[in-house]
Amino acid sequence: MAFGGMAVGMAVSGVGAAAVLLLVLGSVGLSAAELQNCSFSALYSFGDSLTDNGNAIAALPEQFIDSEENPNGVNFPHHAADRYCDGRLLVDYISFGVRLKPNYAILRSIAADFAYGANFAFAGATARNNTEWRQMSGFNSPFSLNIQVSWLERYKVRLEFYYEQIAVNQTLPAVDSLNTSLYFVNAGFQDYFFPLYYKEITAKEALELVDSVVGAIITAVKRIFAFGARTFMIVNLPPLGCLPALLTLYPEVDSARYDTYGCLDVFNNISKTHNALLLSRVEDLRSTYTNATFYLADYYNVYRDVLKSPADYGISGTLTACCGYGGSYNFNQSLFCTHSGVVNGSDIELIYPCLNSTAYLNWDGIHPTAQMNWIAATAFFNGTHITPIGGFNCSADYSNWYN
Ligand SMILES: *[C@@H]1O[C@H](CO)[C@@H](O)[C@H](O)[C@H]1NC(C)=O
Ligand SMILES: *[C@@H]1O[C@H](CO)[C@@H](O)[C@H](O)[C@H]1NC(C)=O
Ligand SMILES: *[C@@H]1O[C@H](CO)[C@@H](O)[C@H](O)[C@H]1NC(C)=O
Ligand SMILES: *[C@@H]1O[C@H](CO)[C@@H](O)[C@H](O)[C@H]1NC(C)=O
Ligand SMILES: *[C@@H]1O[C@H](CO)[C@@H](O)[C@H](O)[C@H]1NC(C)=O
Ligand SMILES: *[C@@H]1O[C@H](CO)[C@@H](O)[C@H](O)[C@H]1NC(C)=O
Ligand SMILES: *[C@@H]1O[C@H](CO)[C@@H](O)[C@H](O)[C@H]1NC(C)=O
Ligand SMILES: *[C@@H]1O[C@H](CO)[C@@H](O)[C@H](O)[C@H]1NC(C)=O
Ligand SMILES: *[C@@H]1O[C@H](CO)[C@@H](O)[C@H](O)[C@H]1NC(C)=O
Ligand SMILES: *[C@@H]1O[C@H](CO)[C@@H](O)[C@H](O)[C@H]1NC(C)=O
Ligand SMILES: *[C@@H]1O[C@H](CO)[C@@H](O)[C@H](O)[C@H]1NC(C)=O
Repeated sequence: MAFGGMAVGMAVSGVGAAAVLLLVLGSVGLSAAELQNCSFSALYSFGDSLTDNGNAIAALPEQFIDSEENPNGVNFPHHAADRYCDGRLLVDYISFGVRLKPNYAILRSIAADFAYGANFAFAGATARNNTEWRQMSGFNSPFSLNIQVSWLERYKVRLEFYYEQIAVNQTLPAVDSLNTSLYFVNAGFQDYFFPLYYKEITAKEALELVDSVVGAIITAVKRIFAFGARTFMIVNLPPLGCLPALLTLYPEVDSARYDTYGCLDVFNNISKTHNALLLSRVEDLRSTYTNATFYLADYYNVYRDVLKSPADYGISGTLTACCGYGGSYNFNQSLFCTHSGVVNGSDIELIYPCLNSTAYLNWDGIHPTAQMNWIAATAFFNGTHITPIGGFNCSADYSNWYN
């Protein structure tokens, strides 16, 4: 995978995909001329496996070992990516775009740089307080959003201490930059998706969780506001009914339950219900805290745009997992990406990347590909599907991408 000669350090396999990427870049480049560079002092991020870039494997390495196994991270510079993705996450694109710096996992002690913020997200973390963690039980972790916010508060205590008491040989953000930083919150996916995936709840029961999940997100945002934050980016849920894992695990006989794009209405309805309540609660925050900015990034509708005209984005696999095997959606719950198994007498090893990962929306049946994350980040920077209208109104500059 060659990065050096490219304008953007994004892995692209296949000439077709490269041409599309350049086109996308070109259109951003045009408006970039008039816009200011994005400039937040630092970025602090919160959430689950959609945002974790190394905390889970640092804290619970046996449980989350898959995140560093092939082919996770194949499209990531220097490989060992510690993410459930082929390459970069949405938060990686956003943080690099606003800071020209990567955002490191707070628990990563080796070769990290916290001068531009930190990532507190943890794979398996619910937005709601997790009071019943079960060790080694798949995607489940004790570090729900409330704990992540406590880590942030503790972090500030330490920053103040080092600024006032001891000079350390580590570049740290200035304490008074905390109110000029961007706070990225992408939580809630874990609360619905994994209980459905493990068939612990029904779709109807998932709908009954919406109030408490959105409530937990808003509680966390208010706490972060009280901490001093003044700019937030809150991300909504993807269409759950379009994920290869749920499409495989809940085969519907009645085709009326599939929408125009082949997604399951009953699960998309959970996302829509959550997203509608989240929007209304964010609007409440905007009217209460008039001196803060609450960006709401509408990931759902970026995803929908891609489903509507995938070819415009260089996507051909909309509902099939890139890293997976078998069935209509290239997904098998007992033969997950990074694992091996025997199917119909053949040894199958899901340790190689699929041929064309930039042509897929979904990576492992659950998490989006880096390509989808890139499409979403581009949209949010150029003001598409983000409120307040205009979005960040700044241009992300990936030309200096760190590898
Ligand atoms: C975007 O920023 C430019 C300057 O970089 C400014 O002229 C324009 O008014 C801004 N647009 C919005 C919607 O804030
Ligand atoms: C944006 O930053 C680049 C350096 O990364 C600089 O060359 C350019 O002049 C800046 N543009 C604006 C509008 O400040
Ligand atoms: C969640 O935990 C926090 C403390 O971390 C607490 O303040 C909050 O009340 C709890 N929320 C619920 C709904 O129990
Ligand atoms: C920081 O590093 C410099 C040079 O490496 C050294 O001279 C200095 O003593 C260090 N300071 C502290 C507080 O460790
Ligand atoms: C941020 O907080 C510092 C005090 O820590 C204050 O001096 C500064 O005015 C604040 N900036 C903003 C944009 O609120
Ligand atoms: C969709 O969600 C709404 C709540 O937003 C609920 O009233 C309705 O019954 C749900 N429909 C289906 C088909 O699940
Ligand atoms: C912002 O608004 C909140 C709530 O109204 C208030 O507590 C806080 O002091 C304000 N901060 C600034 C910097 O104006
Ligand atoms: C890879 O994706 C591109 C863009 O969608 C497509 O043109 C090409 O045929 C795909 N190649 C393979 C081997 O799937
Ligand atoms: C395994 O064999 C069965 C029966 O022949 C077939 O229906 C199924 O599609 C095969 N599975 C795969 C993954 O090829
Ligand atoms: C899923 O993978 C397992 C091996 O881990 C295999 O036994 C099973 O047949 C596969 N299911 C399908 C539908 O291919
Ligand atoms: C904004 O980004 C989206 C998603 O990547 C893209 O489809 C759209 O063309 C871009 N619009 C502009 C004006 O650059």
